[in-house]
Amino acid sequence: MRQPMVAGNWKMNGSSDSVKELIAGIKAGMDSVSKAEVVVCPPAVYIPRVAGAAADSEIKVGSQNICDEDKGAFTGEISGEMLKDVGCEYAIIGHSERRALYGESDELVAKRFAAARRNGIKPIFCIGETLEERESGTTNDVCARQIDAVIALEGVEALADGVIAYEPVWAIGTGKTATPEQAQEVHAFIRGKIAALNADVADGLRILYGGSMNAGNAKELIGQPDIDGGLIGGASLKAEDFLAICTAAN
Ligand code: 13P
Repeated sequence: MRQPMVAGNWKMNGSSDSVKELIAGIKAGMDSVSKAEVVVCPPAVYIPRVAGAAADSEIKVGSQNICDEDKGAFTGEISGEMLKDVGCEYAIIGHSERRALYGESDELVAKRFAAARRNGIKPIFCIGETLEERESGTTNDVCARQIDAVIALEGVEALADGVIAYEPVWAIGTGKTATPEQAQEVHAFIRGKIAALNADVADGLRILYGGSMNAGNAKELIGQPDIDGGLIGGASLKAEDFLAICTAAN
């Protein structure tokens, strides 16, 4: 049985005061969450504060990125060791905003995946197609290519150390969620592709859905056989909404 996971990607939102309030609100509602592993990924500067507040709870903390290198002259980057030092257990890797706005290639994303693993941080590895790619019928090819970059560098077994988040780019922040059938179809493809290389890894691997998931649609999405939880953007910024998604996995 795969334990469901609900992770909040806070993106570049919040302040010292608001993150304090948000994590306190999530903590206060954790009693109602019986199944899901709950993770929050604040902006890097707020990780120590949030990790401190979450320390005596079941809530885990992740970063929104991780440097592919471990130390030295990499201005603006944050290493796996540093993230670990301030309490991160997870790191989002290859988010479509990083790929599209900051030019992260499949190869760089794979190197970041490797950096997370060697520092004992679990990657939340994001993949997904743009609207144009979906409309031209290449959704599966795009997802396969993004996964293959990690497999080429680290081997298929490496996927067991993290989770995959399927986030169709056209569904992110748009209010346009993939239908449960659309999402399930891609999740099944991803699992099948990995199963062809290693059935055990595929069977144990959690594949999250991300893209306008909210309290209203979470239950049906997470209810699909190959959808093991969600990576939540906008709806993770309000404790009540985020908790409603976490409990949808109960
Ligand atoms: P939204 O939930 O705001 O669509 O964002 C999804 C996302 O990008 C999570 O990483």
